[in-house]
Amino acid sequence: MTLKTVSELLSKDIIIPEVEIKGWVRTFRANRFIALNDGSTLNNIQCVVDFENFDEALLKRVTTGAAIHVKGELVESQGKGQKVEIKVNELIVLGDSDPDSYPIQPKKHSFEFLRENAHLRTRTNTFSAVMRLRSTLSFAIHKYFNDNGFYYMHAPIITGSDAEGAGEMFKVSSLDAKNPPLNDEGKVDYSKDFFGKETNLTVSGQLEAETYAMSLGKVYTFGPTFRAENSNTSRHLAEFWMIEPEVAFMDLAGNMDLAEDFMKSVIKYILDNNREDLEFLDKRLQDEEKTKPQAERSDMTLIEKLNFVTDNNFKRVSYTEAIDILRNCKPNKKKKFKYIINEWGTDLQSEHERFLVEKHFKCPVILFDYPANIKAFYMRLNEDGKTVRAMDILFPGIGEIVGGAQREERLDVLKERMATINIPEDDLWWYLDLRKYGTAVHSGFGLGFERLVMFATGMSNIRDVIPFPRTPQNAEF
Ligand code: 4AD
Ligand code: MG
Repeated sequence: MTLKTVSELLSKDIIIPEVEIKGWVRTFRANRFIALNDGSTLNNIQCVVDFENFDEALLKRVTTGAAIHVKGELVESQGKGQKVEIKVNELIVLGDSDPDSYPIQPKKHSFEFLRENAHLRTRTNTFSAVMRLRSTLSFAIHKYFNDNGFYYMHAPIITGSDAEGAGEMFKVSSLDAKNPPLNDEGKVDYSKDFFGKETNLTVSGQLEAETYAMSLGKVYTFGPTFRAENSNTSRHLAEFWMIEPEVAFMDLAGNMDLAEDFMKSVIKYILDNNREDLEFLDKRLQDEEKTKPQAERSDMTLIEKLNFVTDNNFKRVSYTEAIDILRNCKPNKKKKFKYIINEWGTDLQSEHERFLVEKHFKCPVILFDYPANIKAFYMRLNEDGKTVRAMDILFPGIGEIVGGAQREERLDVLKERMATINIPEDDLWWYLDLRKYGTAVHSGFGLGFERLVMFATGMSNIRDVIPFPRTPQNAEF
């Protein structure tokens, strides 16, 4: 007799005389029906106990949250709601769960409450569905790149270069914070620190990935990245996972094609493989939407949104065109935006991005050719001398989900750019070497994994799509 999962048993429609299963009790009804879940599926298996044949003290221990081991017969279900159920012959309580103190009661809990109980929240339908989807998405991402000839590269997490400029960094140091060694100028002497220099947690693996693209051709990173910005929003984490492909001999148009194909492919993968979880989350979102005022409701359900992305072309729009649209749009003229768009060159805020995607184009948008001075130093300068070959992908409900660019491959132009914004060449000598030895056109992008999981699950707070969110003032668990 082998141990099966609930998912396997529920897929059977034959009688199996001897089965056994282990899981956690969701509910125990009428001293007779145990709804058992083991995480393998959203659905519970019903285990029916004939209470006359069981010790009363044992049955008292079958409470919500308890871990149990059940042996019995898989039979056709008498009741509605399931095809099969287990007629229990033997019941073992593996781990008790005090019903008075167990936080996850069989009722609706708020997401705030569940965040405080993040160690137990995956015992709910919503969070188990979200985290199964997160797992599948991560597999789909690796599969896409593997199928398309990319190598998986592990960029360092501790980095000695802080020149990316993607955000504030977390320092990594083993010096005594109370009594650090000081240099002649009275500043902390990092030459005495663990690495002999200042180090930080990485904000992006891109610069290192570029070195591998310029030898292995097509590579990607998929790892944790860290930003010490104090942005307490529903779309920002201090620790998040980023997918960063980088490809030699690929220009910006190729980069956009890759990003679009990649996004469509991973979304299609979950549509094909996680139907049950998606349908559950689709229903959850519809219920949530009903609580909102009509004007704020989305006109598409979750699954419709996912299908919409896989079935339609992303709209490609230059920054300059986007600014024209924004300058002349109603919310700008009526001063409904918090940040009014007056002139070419201003950075877009998430309210502008969401207007373009949700109200104007009503589809995913790729914005490209941004002004150089609002983008990173490594982006390739256009012939006009003022815009760079950057691209951002904007998704409905999310805003920016991908940021990328064609990289500046010309040594002289790159050096000039670094000098203008005071990045010392010494800090990035190895990055400049790529432009000295066999330089070539190359491009890449970064996808914020949690923003993708938000889009795929319809969850509206980024804290609810990562197991243990790290945000300002919060690093519990
Ligand atoms: O636009 P970003 O800052 O781009 C880079 O870091 C480039 N080096 C990527 C590259 O070209 N290889 O970040 C990329 C994406 C954003 O579009 C967003 O989805 C996500 O990372 N992101 C965050 N997600 C959660 N919390 C944060 N604080 C995030 N900051 C960026
Ligand atoms: Mg960005």
